[in-house]
Amino acid sequence: MAESLTTIRSKLQEHKQDHLLKFYDELSELERENLLEQLSDIDFVALQTLIDQYVMRNPVKDLPKDLQPAPYYPCDPGSKYDADHYRTIGEDLIRQGKVAAFTVAGGQGTRLGWNGPKGTFPATAITGRPLFRIFAEQLLATAKRYGNSIRWYIMTSPQNHAQTRAFFADNRFFGIDRQDIFMFPQGTMPCIDAATGKLLLSNKSTIAVNPDGHGGSIKALAQSGAIEVMQSCGIEHISYFQVDNPMVRAIDPLFVGLHAAAPDSSGEISSKMVTKTSPQEKVGVFCQSGGKTMVIEYSDLPDDLTNQTTDDGKLRFIAGSIAIHMLSVKFVEKLTSNSDGFALPFHRADKIVPYIDTTTGKLTEPDKPNAVKLEAFVFDAIPLAESSIVYETNRNEEFAPIKNAKGIDSVVSSQQLQTQRAANWLKTHGIEIPLDSKDQVDAVIEISPLTALEAADLKKIDLPKSIKPGESIVL
Ligand code: UTP
Repeated sequence: MAESLTTIRSKLQEHKQDHLLKFYDELSELERENLLEQLSDIDFVALQTLIDQYVMRNPVKDLPKDLQPAPYYPCDPGSKYDADHYRTIGEDLIRQGKVAAFTVAGGQGTRLGWNGPKGTFPATAITGRPLFRIFAEQLLATAKRYGNSIRWYIMTSPQNHAQTRAFFADNRFFGIDRQDIFMFPQGTMPCIDAATGKLLLSNKSTIAVNPDGHGGSIKALAQSGAIEVMQSCGIEHISYFQVDNPMVRAIDPLFVGLHAAAPDSSGEISSKMVTKTSPQEKVGVFCQSGGKTMVIEYSDLPDDLTNQTTDDGKLRFIAGSIAIHMLSVKFVEKLTSNSDGFALPFHRADKIVPYIDTTTGKLTEPDKPNAVKLEAFVFDAIPLAESSIVYETNRNEEFAPIKNAKGIDSVVSSQQLQTQRAANWLKTHGIEIPLDSKDQVDAVIEISPLTALEAADLKKIDLPKSIKPGESIVL
């Protein structure tokens, strides 16, 4: 229920945000109601603290003094751990229906510039499979392999929820049983003018907001009722991944098993990492302090640590985060048992946000960042666990993000990596792969997850004897 105009006006005056009612008298009845409802939902006392902390000054991050690189389970287990043992544990959990997939798809995808939810973006080189279809096919293949359906939880944002739902409906849920898909929008935060700390209006009756970051997923899992549903159907573990990495293994039995049963895992939250390609690579780094695992953002790690090497010349802080995690349902429940009180720390991002100038009433479209967006990051939940493990995955197998329209981490670089992975898989079955003068695969190869989830699955398939230079092949 919206509070009364008088109550809201005095609250806004107290927090120097009364410009938000500047156009109230010009609004229709419906618009007034809408505005009062948005204003009633904002906790201005808490917001004021955040504005003081993150907007009016640039937050300083104090890094722990005893920062160490986090240990990790290497990709090649050697004699360090028994991969078959943990894979079997993971497979049993999947078979018993105790593992759900969870895609965070609420981002705004501003860098990509795609007009629609990022998950609808055509990610593969030949058939243009959208990201959501790639994950759906993986889940169908995994369900078939283990003889049990996999429930899929998808976090959208209020801005893209309806479009995402419509996309799934238009595609008949990609063949997944409708009952196995649970979609819910995440929370939002108001966009704040960077110079004045004032909230912005996106039109005369609407506060400008942004989704509250992928870290908002923890609260949203609880507030949407997803956690309750998971409990009622016996789900214990959640395989968390972002919508923009078409090569992610949506459900990875070995990772599930390590998360659930490794001796140093509390089974609360675990992470995958890849070794950094260079000190400058812009990924967060897994570290430890006081026995707790944590991710330090690349921009926060001091240069001397970023560049530090071990005696054998390797980077010391080498474990790069690629935002793939396992979370237990119990952990999310523990964090959110008082969901109003739970909050991960925020991170400040300076962005361009169009707004209504309250002096002229006109829409202003700045050409440089004018506003602060406050976002929570999911990795800030890691140190809240009793203990948390990190597992190294092979970058060439699992990391091909689509973030940008061009260049690094773009659709072009992602499709090259997808082809390279497909070529690697075919090579293990003796297929010769044509290479160009730069030793790059001279062909485009797309393998549907329904055909193979990993190289070994190609054994059952009729494969081409060879691939001609420049050929496009879909398997
Ligand atoms: P990014 O940090 O790449 O942000 O999100 P983005 O919003 O997709 O893209 P830009 O920065 O505007 O270009 C990483 C993952 O986290 C999800 C995204 O959908 C993506 O899968 N995410 C991000 C959310 O679900 N909600 C958010 O509020 C932010």
